[in-house]
This record gives sequence, C-alpha cells and structure tokens, in this order.
Amino acid sequence: MNKIELIKTAQALVANHKGILAMDESGGTIKKRFDLYNISQTEESRRLYRELILTTPHLGDYISGVILFDETIRQSKKDGTSFVKVITDAGIIPGIKVDKGAKAMAGHPHEKVTEGLDGLRGRLTEYAQMGARFAKWRAVITIGDGIPSKACIEANAHALARYAALCQEAGIVPMVEPEILMNGSHSMERCFTVTQEVLRTVFKQLNKQGVMLEGMILKPNMVLPGLTCSKQVGVDEVAVGTVQCFLRTVPAAVPGIMFLSGGQSSELASERLNAMNKLFMGKLPWGLSFSYGRAIQEPALSIWRGESANVTKAQEALLLRSKCNWAARQGKYSAAMEK
Ligand code: 13P
Repeated sequence: MNKIELIKTAQALVANHKGILAMDESGGTIKKRFDLYNISQTEESRRLYRELILTTPHLGDYISGVILFDETIRQSKKDGTSFVKVITDAGIIPGIKVDKGAKAMAGHPHEKVTEGLDGLRGRLTEYAQMGARFAKWRAVITIGDGIPSKACIEANAHALARYAALCQEAGIVPMVEPEILMNGSHSMERCFTVTQEVLRTVFKQLNKQGVMLEGMILKPNMVLPGLTCSKQVGVDEVAVGTVQCFLRTVPAAVPGIMFLSGGQSSELASERLNAMNKLFMGKLPWGLSFSYGRAIQEPALSIWRGESANVTKAQEALLLRSKCNWAARQGKYSAAMEK
C-alpha cells in the first residue's frame, strides 16, 4: 500500500469543487435506463452512449472522477482510443465498480447483501494495471416494517470494510457506499436513525479491518423522508438533517463525502447539495460533494435516445448538470443556471 498515493488520490477526487460522475451501471441497470427511451440494448449502443459521455467537451472542468463498469473499462472510442486514455487525457481520474451486486440475503426476506469478495484481490490488481485509481462497492439497505435488521447492517458493513482493505492493499482508493433506499413511506426521522446506525457500524468495521480513513471516500445517501411519506420536507431541512447525521458519524479524517442521487430529480439533487454547502461553508471537516449517476445523466439520456444527431445537445445537457453540481459545491447554484 502506498499511503501517500492513496491520500493524494482521495484528496484529488474532492479538490477544486469537483465531483464524480457515476456511469457504472451494470448490464441490468443500463437496460432499465435504456428501456425508458426505447434505446436498443447492445454492446455497441452501450459503448456509443459511454463515448458520448466521455467525449463531452470540458467535462474535466467540473468532474474529478468517473466510475466505470467492467465492460466499459475495456472499451474504446470508435477511433480506437481506449476510454481510460480519453478519461485521463481529460484530467479525470478513472474508477471502477467492483461489487457483484446486491443479492437476496438468506433468512432475511426483503433484505440484501452485496457479493463480490471472492477473487476481488485478483480483479483489483487487473483494474489497477488498466489504470483505475479508485473503486466503488455499493451496499443496499431497505427501510420497512422491522427492517433493516442488525444482521443485514452488519453483514453489509463487514463486506464494505473487507472490500476497502483490499482496495487500499492494491493502491486503489475505496469509495464506500452504504445506500439507504428512498423507497417507502418512512419519515425523515427514521431515515436519520437508520443512516446514523449504518454509518456507525460501517466505520466500526472499517477501523477493525485497518482501513486508512484518509485514503477513502464515503458515498452515502442524503437524509430524506421516504418517497411516499406523507410529510415531505424543504431543502434546508434536508441539508441540516443530513449534515447533523454526518457530523455525528463520519470521522474528520475522511477527506470527502460524495453523495449518490438515489433517484432524486436532477434539480433537487443540486439544490440540496447547494444548501448543505451554503449553510455549513467553512464549518465542516470533510468536503461535501457529489457522485451522481441519474441526477447527472438523466437529461442527457432523454435527449440522446440513441440518435447520433442528438449527441451534441445531450453533451450540453450533461455538462450543464456537471456545472450546476460544481456550483452547488460552492453554495453558488441557483435555478437561473438551469436556463
Ligand atoms: P445514482 O446517483 O443514480 O443513485 O447513482 C449513483 C451510484 O453510483 C449508485 O451506486
């Protein structure tokens, strides 16, 4: 493990008000996204879409890192230039999703545990050789009647910590992602309590496995009421609740908290990040940034629809979302930027 390199990479991911673009949809997930717009599902259509994203002019002005999927890290532009080279030439750090997906947990109906530790050391070595400098592992926690169980939280936290230790051994910065889903009618208070418990358990496990906190990134959910909760809350309330939860649970040694968007609209994801940075500017030990998938890609995908004639417009939409979130990191985002 080269500690200095790990720390430098983790710091670079949150530097200069930039954030991460998650484009690591697995085969099943990208199919869901393409199906929405009747885009054909082939290796070539996925490659074309990823080429559109990665060749967006000036993407590196706002984006510090991109997370790729196994298929994507092996792909190239039409002219033969590897995606990894396109990314690094744009001044962006390549990352890779390394988990094998959240699977039904034995004995725990409606709960999931993320798989992928078997053979992970070998896969990380290969990805590092291909140029990946950070990685992502997503654990999924569902709020419902009597869940999440302690068993689910502990199993996922343990796997996240073992993954993170293996990443650092390979010289790769682990992005630790415990996602508490927005689905459900639970209140914001319940999301707060569950997020707090999950993060405490995750950091306990990270410490047990000897993970160097300065050389990792946390990718959490925001603290929000469930999608079908009858009491929705304002942007500032989300910002205050979310930051309070993280102040209680995330050690100051962690360089960055980079949120997932989790199905929030693009505008809300920017507004909420903006409010956190505006209200707490200069008062927080870690950078508060974004690692959005849908909240950056969705407008671009809805414009592209698989048509080459729409590429430029789609890239403009992708760049706008990246810029809005870069502004939100500085508390300078406003609805006027959307025009
Ligand atoms: P969303 O921002 O679409 O939730 O995706 C982020 C991600 O990487 C989920 O694992």
